[in-house]
Amino acid sequence: MSSIRTNEGYRRISSLVLLPERIATAVVIGLVAALIPVAAGRAAFAQEGKTVWDGVYTEEQATRGKAAYRKDCASCHMEDLRGEGYAAPLIADAFTQRWQDGTLGDLFTSLKATMPADRPSVLENEAYADIVAYLLKMNDYPAGQQELSKDPADLRPIVFKKPGQAAKP
Ligand code: HEC
Repeated sequence: MSSIRTNEGYRRISSLVLLPERIATAVVIGLVAALIPVAAGRAAFAQEGKTVWDGVYTEEQATRGKAAYRKDCASCHMEDLRGEGYAAPLIADAFTQRWQDGTLGDLFTSLKATMPADRPSVLENEAYADIVAYLLKMNDYPAGQQELSKDPADLRPIVFKKPGQAAKP
C-alpha cells in the first residue's frame, strides 16, 4: 500500500514540475489552432471569394431555367416555388436558410443526385445549371454577364454567404 501512495505522490510532484511546460505547450497549441482557420479562410477567400451576390448567372440562363423548372419541377414544388406537402419550398427564408452555409456546388450536386424526386439525374447538367440560375433569380440574387457553369467543380467555390459574413468552420 505504502509503495502505491509513494508512487501517487511522485506522480503528483512530477506533474506539478511539468505543469509550466504543459501550460506553455497548451498555449502554443491553442494559438496555432486559433490561427489556422483564419489563415485558411483568408487563403480560400483570396483564391476565389465569389458569392451568389456577384452576378454569377445571366438573365437568359434564368429564363431557360424557368422553362426547365416548369417542365420538370413545378408539378411538386409548384410554379411559385413555394412547395407543397413534402416538396420543400425553394424560395425565401426556406431556401436561404437551407443553403446559407453551402455553395452552388452543393446545391447543384444535391439537385442532380435527388431531383426530380420521381426520377433523379434525368436532366442534362446544363438544365440543372439553368435551374440553379432560375432559383437564384427567384431568390433575388443578381444576374450578371457570365452564365453559370454546368461543371459542378466550377460551382463549388461559389458560396452563399454575403461578403463579410463569417464562413462556418
Ligand atoms: C415528384 C415530386 C418532385 C419533383 C418532380 C421535384 N421534386 Fe424536388 N423535392 C421533392 C421532395 C418530396 C423533396 C423533399 C425531399 C427531402 O427532403 O428529402 C424535394 C426537395 C427538393 C430540394 C431541397 C433539397 C435539399 O437538400 O434541401 C430542392 C432544392 C429541390 N427539391 C429542387 C427540385 C428541382 C430543381 C426539381 C426539378 C428538376 C425538383 N425538385 C423536382 C419532390 C419533387
